Amino acid sequence: MKKISVGLLGFGTVGTGVVHLLMNDRQKLVQQTGSQIQISKILVKDREKSRKMDQYDHLLTLNPSDVIDNPEIDIIIEVMGGIDETRKYIHRALKNKKHVITANKDLMALYGTELLQAAADEGCDLYYEASVGGGIPILRGITDGLAADRIKKLIGIVNGTTNYILSKMSHHSVSYEKVLLEAQSLGFAEADPTSDVEGLDAARKMVILSHLAYSIPVTLEDVKVEGITRVAEEDIQYSKKLGYAIKLVGIAEVEDGEIDIRVGPTLLPFNHPLSSVDNEFNAIYVYGHSVGETMFYGPGAGELPTAIAIVSDLITVVKNMSYGINGKHIFLPLQEKKCKSSET
Ligand code: NDP
Ligand code: HSE
Repeated sequence: MKKISVGLLGFGTVGTGVVHLLMNDRQKLVQQTGSQIQISKILVKDREKSRKMDQYDHLLTLNPSDVIDNPEIDIIIEVMGGIDETRKYIHRALKNKKHVITANKDLMALYGTELLQAAADEGCDLYYEASVGGGIPILRGITDGLAADRIKKLIGIVNGTTNYILSKMSHHSVSYEKVLLEAQSLGFAEADPTSDVEGLDAARKMVILSHLAYSIPVTLEDVKVEGITRVAEEDIQYSKKLGYAIKLVGIAEVEDGEIDIRVGPTLLPFNHPLSSVDNEFNAIYVYGHSVGETMFYGPGAGELPTAIAIVSDLITVVKNMSYGINGKHIFLPLQEKKCKSSET
C-alpha cells in the first residue's frame, strides 16, 4: 500500500485534534484514500511544554526545516497561525513541491491569492476548508455544492468566540470578561483574542467567502468592521425584551457588479434562523439566484470540528495525488473588483 507522509506546523488546539483523528481513524483513512497516512514531524515553539498527547513527543521539532524541507514529507498541515513567518514557510513548502493544508484565515484573507497562485504554479494543492466555519464544509458548499448558481448574498455568524460570548451573556447574564476567559480556555479564541472581539477574524472570513462566492479579489480594506467590545450587557438584555438577539454578523452582497461587505453587531428578530445560532456554533446563509435560500450550520471552532475540516482536506489531497491532479482545482478570483464601500 502507498505510504503518505505528513508534517505538521503546530501542535496546539487544532493540531492535537488532527493528530487524534489521524491516529484513531486510520482504518477510515485507508478506506477513503487507499493509502497509509503517517505523521513524520511536528513543529512546535516549546519542546518542554506538557501536552495532552505526549506519546508523540519523539516527533516534535523546533526546526522548521525538519518539516518544510524534509524530502520524506509529502503534505504539510499548517496549524500554527501567524502571518509573516507562516507565509514564508508555505511558500517554501510549495517550492519543495509539498501540498499544503491550512486553517489560517488571517493568512488566506491577506495572501490567499498569492499563495494559491504559487501552489498552481508548482502543481501543488492548497486547501483551507478549516479557515472558515470550523467543521462546516462551507467553502466546498460554495465552490462545489452551489457551483452552478450565482450567489447574491452571504450572511454569516462566522466567529465562534464572539457568538459564545454574546449568547452566554444573553442566556446566563454573565460578564463579558468571564465568558471571554471561558472561550479562551475552551480553545475557541485566537492566541490574541483582540481579532475575535474586534471583528477582524470575522472580516477575514468574509473576505475568504467573498473570493469564492463572487470570484472578486476583495481585500480587508474593503470590509467595514465593528466588533463587540462596545456591546453592553444592558444592550443584550434590553434587545431581548424587545424580541431581538444581538449577534456579530458578516454580510457580503453584490448588486450591479458592486460588492458591499460589512461586519458588526446586529439585531436579529427571534424569528430569524440566525438568531438561534448559539455558543461557538456558526451559520452561513447563502442566497443564490436559482437555489434561493440555503443555510450551512455547525460547530465553528474547537479541536475536533476544525480537525475534521483539515483531515477531510487531507483525504482530498491524497486522492488527488493518486489521480495525478494536484494543483488543478485551485480557485483564483477572476473578476475585477468594484466596491460600494470605496465609492461612497
Ligand atoms: P494554538 O495556539 O493552540 O496552537 C499553535 C501551535 O503552533 C502550538 O503548538 C505552537 O507551539 C505552535 N507555534 C506557534 N507559533 C510557532 C512558531 N513561531 N514556531 C513554531 N511553532 C509555533 O492555536 P490553534 O490550534 O487554536 O490555532 C491554529 C490555527 O488554526 C490558527 O491559524 C487559527 O486561527 C486556526 N483556527 C483555529 C480554530 C480553533 O478553534 N482554535 C478554528 C479554525 C482555525 P507550542 O505548542 O510549543 O506553543
Ligand atoms: N477564533 C476563531 C473563532 C476560531 O472563534 O471563530 C475559529 O476560526
